[in-house]
Amino acid sequence: MPLAPSLIERYAAHLPITARTPRITLGEGGTPLLRARWLERETAIDEVWLKVEGQNPTGSFKDRGMVVAVAKAVEEGARAVLCASTGNTAASAAAYAARAGLACTVVLPAGQVALGKLAQAIVFGAKVVAVRGSFDAALAVVRDLAASGEATLVNSVNPHRIEGQKTAAFEVCEALGDAPDALFIPVGNAGNITAYWKGFVEAAAAGLSRSRPKLYGFQAEGAAPIVRGAPVEEPRTVATAIRIGNPASWRSAVRARDESGGAIEAVGDDEILAAYRDLARREGVFCEPASAASVAGLRKRAAAGGARGPRRVVCVLTGNGLKDPDSARAAAGGLVEVEATAEAVLAATR
Ligand code: F0G
Repeated sequence: MPLAPSLIERYAAHLPITARTPRITLGEGGTPLLRARWLERETAIDEVWLKVEGQNPTGSFKDRGMVVAVAKAVEEGARAVLCASTGNTAASAAAYAARAGLACTVVLPAGQVALGKLAQAIVFGAKVVAVRGSFDAALAVVRDLAASGEATLVNSVNPHRIEGQKTAAFEVCEALGDAPDALFIPVGNAGNITAYWKGFVEAAAAGLSRSRPKLYGFQAEGAAPIVRGAPVEEPRTVATAIRIGNPASWRSAVRARDESGGAIEAVGDDEILAAYRDLARREGVFCEPASAASVAGLRKRAAAGGARGPRRVVCVLTGNGLKDPDSARAAAGGLVEVEATAEAVLAATR
């Protein structure tokens, strides 16, 4: 059987790809869509599916958009790429820049990036700079630098990122044979909800689906500018990936919400962490806290009766739990250490 082609090759007809675009790949896309039986029982929804984006090469959905953004940067003659990040964009940009032979600079909010993501950016050879301030401040800095011609900006304000990320919607339609009734997704800088909506609209137009889903986006309560209708000066949440107070794609996220007939709502850190733990213990899927916001949102709506109606839903799990060992440790509590004897181990497990 031939190996699956790269995301760029597989979806070239739907992407801004030319004969001169380099076909770079790290094996992105083609992620699992898993049935979630425990969530089906809890929510009384017929079909709940998990799109496990943590299975991408650097462990998040960012790779879908980054492969396209970096390939286009190479095609356009760039020498370097640049981004601000809560961690995953940085890891992805650093990896694809290494693959394509470009320099990479990432600007991070100091002290607010999960350890695994920081390690990835460093190991892939990016120049890593932490700034005193939030992600929003870091994004303002890289926008300035990009405007002065320092490097190509590969945040999701780069339209090639949205193009690549929309392929996840195609994959969902291909796997289910149609669009789901509803899709639940975390919202940070709001690029991904924008990309999924573009993907579902195009999938329907291309005959990959008969319908389009309602999109339900979830921000963390302490970082919920779209829900509140105003930027949040000092966003706070355990879900550091979505600790964002002024999303760049705010308007297109609102459009995705309204055109699809969905909603953008807030979930508390306690709800996020409960979904994070339960996904691991009951479904065997280890995602990062921000990713669990989609499932926290589904549970919250179902408990309030708001999920009545959809019979088939998809929750997007955006990133891999291994990226954030500190959150895992905090969820797990202390480790028991005993003498190396069978009796002691048995006693400790009772
Ligand atoms: N989930 C994870 C794991 C993320 O890393 C992000 C965003 C989101 C959800 C939200 O997606 O921004 O498109 O609405 N992370 C960005 C970063 C901000 O820098 O890695 P979004």
